[in-house]
This record gives sequence, C-alpha cells and structure tokens, in this order.
Amino acid sequence: SIRTVTAWEALDSRGRPTVACRVDLADGARAVARVPSGASTGSHEAPELRDGGTRYGGFGVRTAVAGLRDHLAPAVVGLPADETAAVDRALADAYARHGQQEVGANATLAVSLAALLAAAASRDEPLARMLHPEGPLPLPMPMVNIVSGGAHAAGAIDIQDVLVIPEGASTFAEAVEWAARVRAAAAAVASGRGFAEAALVADEGGLGLRLGTNEAALQLVAEAVDAAGLGLGTDVTIAIDAAATEFASDGRYALAAEDRALSAEEMVELYAEWVARYPIRSIEDPLAEDDWDGWALATRELGGRIDLVGDDLFVTQSDRLQRGIAEGCATSILVKVNQNGLVSRAGDVLRAARAAGYRTVVSARSGETEDSWVADLAVGWSAGQLKVGSTQRSERTAKWNRVLELEATESTELQHPWPSRTEETAS
Ligand code: PGA
Ligand code: ZN
Repeated sequence: SIRTVTAWEALDSRGRPTVACRVDLADGARAVARVPSGASTGSHEAPELRDGGTRYGGFGVRTAVAGLRDHLAPAVVGLPADETAAVDRALADAYARHGQQEVGANATLAVSLAALLAAAASRDEPLARMLHPEGPLPLPMPMVNIVSGGAHAAGAIDIQDVLVIPEGASTFAEAVEWAARVRAAAAAVASGRGFAEAALVADEGGLGLRLGTNEAALQLVAEAVDAAGLGLGTDVTIAIDAAATEFASDGRYALAAEDRALSAEEMVELYAEWVARYPIRSIEDPLAEDDWDGWALATRELGGRIDLVGDDLFVTQSDRLQRGIAEGCATSILVKVNQNGLVSRAGDVLRAARAAGYRTVVSARSGETEDSWVADLAVGWSAGQLKVGSTQRSERTAKWNRVLELEATESTELQHPWPSRTEETAS
C-alpha cells in the first residue's frame, strides 16, 4: 500500500517548471513521475495549475505542489498502489473537493502516474508488462517528427509537424533506424539548399525551417526519404499534424507562411491535393478543436483513404470522443494522459475509441522530461502508434530508447496498424 507521497518542482525540456512526485510503498518499492506540458494545448484539456506572477515567468508550479501535498497525498496514503482505479477515484474526489485553484491536472497526474509506476516496481516488472500480462508485448509503430512548425518552431511554417511512419520495418529498432536516416537526410538536403537553421532543433527535435509554403515541408520529407535510400510509400509513409486550432480564427484558417486564409472546405480540398501527391497515412487536427462540421466533412471526404487523428478535438476526454463518434468525426485518436489528468481514465478513453473502431496513437507533449513511462503506456495499452517527437533531444530519445529496451529484453511484436500498401493496391 502507499506509505508516502512526496512532491517537488522540477524542470521540463523547455526549461519550465513541472510537477515531480515520488510514491513510496510499504514494501519499500517506489517510483518518481514527472508531468509533461503542451504548447499547442487544446482549450478543453484538463487545466494545469500555474502560479502566475513573475517567478519563472508565471509558469511556477509551487501551488500545484502544495495542493498535491495537502489534498492529494492524504487521499491516497494507505491505498493499494496496484488498484489504479481506486487510487484515481480518490484523486478525482480530492480534485472535485478542492477544485483547480488548489489542485491542477498536473498534480493529479503526477500522483496517478507515480502510484502506477510504484506498483510495477513492487512487482519488479516493466509497467508495459504489468498492463499487458499475457503474450508478446505489442510494440507501437513509431511516427517520427522530421519538420516542425507552428507553436513548436516559432511559426516557421503553419502546420506543426510533418512526420514519417517507417511502416515497412519489421522491428522497432529498424523503424527507429530508418526514421533517424530520414531525419539526417532532411537536414542535409535543407542545409545544401542554404537553410542555416537546418543545424538547429525545434521543441520536439525536428527541423524548424522557414520554407515559404507548407507543402514544401512535404516535398522536403519526400526527398529525404529518397535520399536515405528508402522506398517512399512502401518503407516509409508520411503523416501530418496540422494542429489547425493554432491558426484558426473566426471560422477561417490563416496560413501565414502562404499569406492566405482558407475556409474549412478549402482546407479539406488542400489536404485532398496533398493526399493525391504524397503517400500520406494520416492527418492529425486538420481542422480546429470546435469545428465539428469541418471535421465531419474532412472525415467524409478523406476518412476512407487516410486516418484523421483527433488530438485537440478529443483532448483525451470521453464526452468529446462520444460526440465525435456520434457525428462521424475522425478515424483515430491521439491520447495524451495529461490532457485528462488521470492515467486510468486516459486508458479508458483509448479503449472506448478502439471499441468504436478508431485507431489509437499514444503521444508525448512538446514540453517533456527524461521520463519514459509514455512508452510503457503505449505498449501496455496496445496502442497502434507512438508519437514522441524526433530522433534527437534526450527527452525524445528516452521514449524510443525505452521501447528499444523492451524489444531487446522481452518477447515483443511490432504492430503494423494498416494493411500493407502493396496489399491495398492489389485489392
Ligand atoms: P503539444 O503538441 O504538446 O504542444 O500540444 C503535441 C501535439 O500537438 O500533438
Ligand atoms: Zn497534435
């Protein structure tokens, strides 16, 4: 059972404060968890509690840490750490009593995760194995950031991520190697064209390049796959996270890099053109978080050909997922536990989406830490894909490295969430 809960303020990969928490069990097992934080956050996410004021530019989390100590710790001490639902229920009750002025989702998630990790430590097994007790561990297909824009790269382009999915790889290690080759080739191609900033890295380790148009990022990644000696559309497919909420206003989508603003219908037409020209597997947040009609249109027009992934749309909340199911929005869900604030509830949302026929992606945030639990959650929950940024920056590689460790030390199987493209063209 949980004996003590300790919390403090630590730093994330952007140099901002975040909540860290240690749970010690009566049997001596213990674990630490640190909470990540987004930049292109959805407005319907469970809210973080930040101190405000001038210290750390207002991003301090001393209030959240105090709320954790005063209200959350007493609620869970004495509970069995491996009864995750009971621990999370106690956290939810304490949150409901004290509200988001005293306890933020950054505090609840820290305790929720540390308790879960302590339970795995107590059994002396990986969290992934505790969550997936039977059979080979299902490793998620990685989706890896190559070019960054939007809030992660000072608006270099409007869309936030162009990623690669090394879906022809037969092991996770091979998938990581191919992605790293594409990342290096993209940097070489860009620097050969005179982009000095190709030597720099954006928030998630990708290239932040002032390319002039959004499609130029797709073109660059396509060239990089080729230059890396990989088959475009066979070995490697392309994914986009538009994060369109960030450039939407008053029902229009302002593409600053291209000096034009489009309607939802025109955005869907633009995506359809890209899908015709490049082997695109998925587009995340093609439209804004509350543009349900636009989402339904995009799903009708493109959902038969590619995955449409709801991140800011669903924010790992069950009521928003249910609305999406009812209105025919999206075909895949992105799950980020800190959008929810409780790890077991985030898992419930992932399973509900899967039961409704959605594909599942577990994702890190743009503000991360050296923790790697997100990799264990993706594996333990049998998520089809894992999205944690690029193949550079240690807060990114910590997650890929964790899956590589599981592949080297456990019985595993890399998932291929889609029928292979050759099978698709044959049928
Ligand atoms: P965020 O970005 O962590 O800044 O929200 C990640 C994403 O949009 O998928
Ligand atoms: Zn996103």
